[in-house]
Amino acid sequence: MMRRFGSAMAASLVAARSASNLVKTFDRNTYTPSATEAKRHGKQRLTAMERVQLFCDPGTFRERDALVEHECHNFDMHKKKIAGDGFITGTGKVFGRPVFLFSHDFTVLGGSLSGTNAAKVVKIMDEAAKIGIPLIGFNDSGGARIQEGVVSLAGYADIFLRNTLFSGVIPQISVIMGPCAGGAVYSPAITDFTFMVDQSSYMFVTGPEVVSAVGGKLVTKDELGGPKIHGSKSGVSAGTFPNDLVALAQLRKLYTYLPLSNRDPAPVVKTTDSRFRNVDSLNTVVPFDTKEAYDIRDAIFPVVDAESFFEIQPQFAKNIVCGFARVEGRTVCIIANQPKVQAGVLDIDSSVKAARMVRFADAFNIPILTFVDVPGFLPGVQQEYGGIIRHGAKLLYAYAEATVPKITIITRKAYGGAYDVMSSKHLRGDSNYAWPRAEIAVMGATGAVKILYPKETLEQQAVRVKDYETAFCTPLSAARKGYVDAVIQPSETRLRVCEDLERLSRKQLSNPWKKHGNIPL
Ligand code: HXC
Repeated sequence: MMRRFGSAMAASLVAARSASNLVKTFDRNTYTPSATEAKRHGKQRLTAMERVQLFCDPGTFRERDALVEHECHNFDMHKKKIAGDGFITGTGKVFGRPVFLFSHDFTVLGGSLSGTNAAKVVKIMDEAAKIGIPLIGFNDSGGARIQEGVVSLAGYADIFLRNTLFSGVIPQISVIMGPCAGGAVYSPAITDFTFMVDQSSYMFVTGPEVVSAVGGKLVTKDELGGPKIHGSKSGVSAGTFPNDLVALAQLRKLYTYLPLSNRDPAPVVKTTDSRFRNVDSLNTVVPFDTKEAYDIRDAIFPVVDAESFFEIQPQFAKNIVCGFARVEGRTVCIIANQPKVQAGVLDIDSSVKAARMVRFADAFNIPILTFVDVPGFLPGVQQEYGGIIRHGAKLLYAYAEATVPKITIITRKAYGGAYDVMSSKHLRGDSNYAWPRAEIAVMGATGAVKILYPKETLEQQAVRVKDYETAFCTPLSAARKGYVDAVIQPSETRLRVCEDLERLSRKQLSNPWKKHGNIPL
């Protein structure tokens, strides 16, 4: 892990942000950081310009509106005019594909949002949507520029509106690389993915001072809204990176999975990974004992192209695994119950996590590959009080409305309502497979027998359990009804998925006309 910025970093640093530098040609060999930049590097942070330059392919970033200034006169602000006003906006390329970007410069009035800055962001957002190119924002800001009052609030609202209108039109990604507080958090919250950087970033609606004044509880910024909290508890963050450099590198990687817009296909990457590759290891992934845990990633990795899995929200709701991968170079979204954590049960957090991934995939025409090993929905007072009914319904709704190719592999358990929810045939799954030891039933044998034969002795119930397992805990009754298309050997899975994705690339399906649905929020 890169904890410090070394000489490689220095070699790729870009011109300091000042009006004179805007017209200078940058020379990587002779560059020395300014005092402000050195201070940022001392705090393990890059400057706003370094972030965009390092994110884009070398030499491709083109800045917009670098000379605009704010128009505020309150609080002597006319004496604090800086070219560009502290937000960097522009276009660039990532592995040759276009991107729009903005980057807050914390060294200019705390990266605060002025009316001028908002207009700069709105300008590139409108253009990004018009052309169909994703928007990435590097957030590092003290929020609304206090000196500008309501003008700044209006600017935020202009951005929120566009975040919303362009949701599902172009991918939008936020990276929090410093403060992000107050209403400012709502722009990242509407974007598709929000990433955070360890040690330097935090997000909250109200800061520690207000929290302690209102509730009397003393908390630090990190405890309230640091990357750990949003990565593992709140689910706000899609992932945490150890520092700016890793964040930028990983974001470039993520970009390679995404289509430019909802009108474009996702990029197809050339691969030598054959559909006939031996994946016999899949035959032994599921333990013989049905109660024994295993890591669903051991089923995912052999099926998708080598080294292609990019996990989203790895620390949040670990009982479901979500991410991007490639199959024969084509992007797919992965949703997989994780038997290693809480037996892969569906609860509030895992339902919402997966629902959001399904909706992203559907909005951007990315096929969904679902791995099912789920004992059902988590029972409990906390879950019911917390609204597992409406949160679980989100996942059901998301899968049901999704029209992209949907391939489902039941590796082991598919019990109860969770069987229906997890991309079942009944929700328009295109190819639904079960591995030979799959158990597709209303519930597990022991639970069923206790309900059906409560008065019988333990010995009698044990016999009933065996009978129930033989009759129901198999994929056969579902296969006989056509609810699974085939019972396949695990080692056939990659080949089947490759063949299906190839065929389904021609799939066309649309839902009844509506203004929009009313997903249970
Ligand atoms: C104008 C600001 C500013 C702001 C910081 N600065 N935030 N200027 N408007 N919102 C300036 C500081 O005055 C300072 O200027 C410089 O930026 C660096 O700030 P520091 O406080 O020295 O930095 P640091 O100690 O790192 O603290 C960072 C900070 C803190 C935690 C972000 O600055 C802070 O609390 N700022 C205010 C945050 C806030 O309440 N914002 C409004 C949120 S409400 P000098 O000249 O001294 O270098 C909101 C509403 C959005 O945003 C609503 C949307 C609907």
